[in-house]
Amino acid sequence: MASLILGLETSCDETAASVVRDGVYILSNAVSTQHDLHERYGGVVPELASRAHLERLLPVVRAAVDEAGVTLDELDAIAVGNRPGLIGSLIVGASAAKALAWSLGKPLLGIDHVHAHLYAATLCEPSAISDQPSVADCQSEIAYPALGLVVSGGHTSLYAMAGPLNMELIGRTIDDAVGEAYDKAAVILGAGYPGGQNVDQLAQRGTPEPQRFPRSMLGKDSLDFSFSGLKTSLLYAVRGQPVGRGKNTSFERDHHDLTDAERADLAASFQHAVAQTLVTKIKRAIKQLEAKGHPPRAIVVGGGVSANSLLRQRLRSLGESAELAVHLPGMAVCVDNAAMIAGLAHARLLAGQTDNLSLPVIATTAMA
Ligand code: KG4
Ligand code: ZN
Repeated sequence: MASLILGLETSCDETAASVVRDGVYILSNAVSTQHDLHERYGGVVPELASRAHLERLLPVVRAAVDEAGVTLDELDAIAVGNRPGLIGSLIVGASAAKALAWSLGKPLLGIDHVHAHLYAATLCEPSAISDQPSVADCQSEIAYPALGLVVSGGHTSLYAMAGPLNMELIGRTIDDAVGEAYDKAAVILGAGYPGGQNVDQLAQRGTPEPQRFPRSMLGKDSLDFSFSGLKTSLLYAVRGQPVGRGKNTSFERDHHDLTDAERADLAASFQHAVAQTLVTKIKRAIKQLEAKGHPPRAIVVGGGVSANSLLRQRLRSLGESAELAVHLPGMAVCVDNAAMIAGLAHARLLAGQTDNLSLPVIATTAMA
């Protein structure tokens, strides 16, 4: 089915709008990041985030529509990430989407942000469509059932996917999300904010020591994740043993006392521990799904950490050895964006699912 969908995304600290054609072609992908605004606080401040969305959303929507070369009347639907996320930020996006849908007389679709991350690998990036390739050149058709892995700043989750709209949560983090662990690692290593990308680059200059850090596998059959032990091990490796307790805790040193080569080696060992943990859990999940008689035919990955250089490499090798197609998002749609929202909305529209103006915003969808 042909469709032209405008997606909006305001769940955290990116204000984004995108026009996607037929659920595949990204005609525009406008993202205004608020990193500069939150950097001095070392994390996202919810009230600042929602105010910034309010200021930035309309210019971002205008940019997305202009870049796509379409008029608002030509759109078939308006989609918005309405869950999970910061409640004030979600309200800004949902209110704008409702106003647009109502005033234009178009269907409204509320999209789960985490599920949308698993749609990102289906999308064609702008660079790939500049020569207007045929669908066959561009479309990344996913064979279902598939195993989905979302690795973002807020989630580390495994899904048994029967389709893009039909997935069951089979594993999740019991403490830090993997992106969160990366962001904290960046603070510990003095790599700057936002952390993931900086730690990744630092790690690429270092040499990993294979067993330097623990890999938390939890129970023998567990598909859940835990990254807080790894983070604490890195903290002690950088700062030495803690002295004192609670507020009075102090450390022997900090990252300023390490050489660049030492920081890079620690980053590399951290990065190896993360990638190995994720790959081990994926292998475990594949075995369990096979044992249940639903062997996955593909692995689908999404979320900011799917931009990680080592993880991408490891997942590709896993795909080759397990003879499974591995679908990784293009670099422009790993981190938060609205193209994935518009893309998944196409699948919902195809399935005849739309929402109305009473669409709620939902901060937490822990069990989804
Ligand atoms: O998906 P996303 O944009 O936001 C959430 O939905 O949470 O993910 C952001 C996370 C951040 O924690 C960021 O540090 C991490 O993705 N990230 C990376 C890389 N690029 C972004 N982590 C590791 N390696 C990267 N190259
Ligand atoms: Zn996200």
